[in-house]
Amino acid sequence: MTIHPFGDASAKGISHDFGLKFAGMMRIKHVLYMSTICLMATQMKSLHSLLLFLLAGLCPIFFPTMADEITVYSHRHYPSDDVLFEKFTEQTGIRVRVVKAGADELIERLRAEGDNTRADVLITADAGRLHIAKTAGLLLPLESEILTESIPEPYRDPDNTWFGFTLRARVMIYAKDRVQAGELTTYEDLANRKWRGRLLARSSSHIYNQSLLASMIAAHGEAEALAWARAVRGNLARAPQGSDRDQMRAVARGLADVAIVNTYYLGLMHNSPDPQDRELAGRLAVHFPNQEDRGIHVNVSGGGVIKASRRPEQAQKFLEFLVSEEAQKTFPLTTSEFPVVEGIELSDLQKSWGAFKADTLNLGKLGDLNVTAVRLFNMSGWE
Ligand code: FE2
Repeated sequence: MTIHPFGDASAKGISHDFGLKFAGMMRIKHVLYMSTICLMATQMKSLHSLLLFLLAGLCPIFFPTMADEITVYSHRHYPSDDVLFEKFTEQTGIRVRVVKAGADELIERLRAEGDNTRADVLITADAGRLHIAKTAGLLLPLESEILTESIPEPYRDPDNTWFGFTLRARVMIYAKDRVQAGELTTYEDLANRKWRGRLLARSSSHIYNQSLLASMIAAHGEAEALAWARAVRGNLARAPQGSDRDQMRAVARGLADVAIVNTYYLGLMHNSPDPQDRELAGRLAVHFPNQEDRGIHVNVSGGGVIKASRRPEQAQKFLEFLVSEEAQKTFPLTTSEFPVVEGIELSDLQKSWGAFKADTLNLGKLGDLNVTAVRLFNMSGWE
């Protein structure tokens, strides 16, 4: 079981209720609309006008109105998200149009589109990016008991503009045959010279590492965080390159002993269609650091409603659906992410990694410290 040290937020059984009510309201709306059209049609004199009127009446049935569709700008790229969004449509009658691109690109596009945007929701894979969207004035503050009661406080914006819906743990993955029990302890210990040539990590240009360094700045201040980044870079077995999965593959093949990565990538390797990835994943294990003090560094995948959205109510329902029990229980089984809501069952693989304590730092702080983290990385020599 994952330990959520943030109170007793629990899954809310919301999805079926609001979905059925909403679908029912839409049906009533269509019946009233059709009745009005038929009544007016009986008053029409010409056959042409009569046909046009009846056609207009049928349109909402065959082509649902714009009110039945939301546009989601998403940085997430999982096919399982599409399945989840279809469930939302089934329950509510609200269709989901997804525009996928990188988070920076989506935020830039939202800035450029301004009030003319068709976007209703922004989803990104890191609180740092959500914070950037918030400070750019792109997100709408929401009043939603479902969101604030379901999501522990550290995983949502204090001003209620963005909300996490999955948790990501950035920790150490190590080679089972080369790292002894007790050797790995804390993030801070990775700066120790005993790890020289034994570590791997991706580039500092990636937001995941920037948010990790931001959490070090929050815990220790800039000077110590800079010294840590410099020392860890000095302990890397090669210049930073590739993805989190590439770091794990290299550790499994013996290039180094420990990689700093997000745990869901190990889950994705375990469940990969590629037998070689599955075999490599079998050589690796997870270490949750800092269990004696602040806990592991976590981040969220999350979203917010666009300030210029023309369908903010539907967009809010969509975010509320993502923290429903039905949605939350799919994440461990599909993307190997942790649910953000407490009390959701984890996958067998996640259970095998053991319980962990997570840092209670509000993730908005990672966004505040992002610029500083980038500056310190540049000074540290971590490419
Ligand atoms: Fe990722």
